[in-house]
Amino acid sequence: MKFFVDTANLEQIQEAVDLGIIDGVTTNPSLMAKEGIKGEAAIRAHYKTIAEMVEGDVSAEVISTEFKDIVKEGEELAAIAPNIVVKVPMIKDGVKALSHFSKNDIKTNCTLVFSSGQALLAAKAGATYVSPFIGRIDDISWDGMDLIEDIVDMYANYGFITEVLAASIRSPLHITKCALMGADVVTSPLSAFLGLLNHPLTDKGLAKFLADAKKSRS
Ligand code: E4P
Repeated sequence: MKFFVDTANLEQIQEAVDLGIIDGVTTNPSLMAKEGIKGEAAIRAHYKTIAEMVEGDVSAEVISTEFKDIVKEGEELAAIAPNIVVKVPMIKDGVKALSHFSKNDIKTNCTLVFSSGQALLAAKAGATYVSPFIGRIDDISWDGMDLIEDIVDMYANYGFITEVLAASIRSPLHITKCALMGADVVTSPLSAFLGLLNHPLTDKGLAKFLADAKKSRS
């Protein structure tokens, strides 16, 4: 299972890289805006910086919505660094662009996926990754995990090579459930990865070990 960190914040990316558990990064226009990056040149320079910080894939999202524009923008993004993955929304022209990129060996991440039907289209179009948004489904009182399970099963039925990249992760529990269901990748805020560390018995056990170690050294 691959772990991608879902942020455009360089400090958080570096912290995740230093932990030694991160295989890539995902960004989106909202995450880029959160960092206060303004202007096309600055945005592309930021993608380049991120791509140099990690060995694995870095998703950079297109903001175009028409086929020709998506292709042009995607090709420009892909040219920034060899590990840039072009993130394309699940719309009709996006599906067409995914197919084009797939035929031209440009890696893609199909984003804003909320149904198994959309995930089927992404796989048929040859997307490298499909991003079902768990948290946003939970937000409207449906179960985002059901979608992950359905897509993993559906892809296994036919041996689709598109990787299931579980996105919109809100908690450590989302991450462990994705692992149990066989998602290929989770992309998560650093906080949810760090949440995996927590267990009161670990804290209690360590305090006792350290106290006993002190006794045998005094
Ligand atoms: C990443 O690829 C997605 O854009 C991101 O996980 C969405 O997360 P959110 O629903 O918390 O904004």
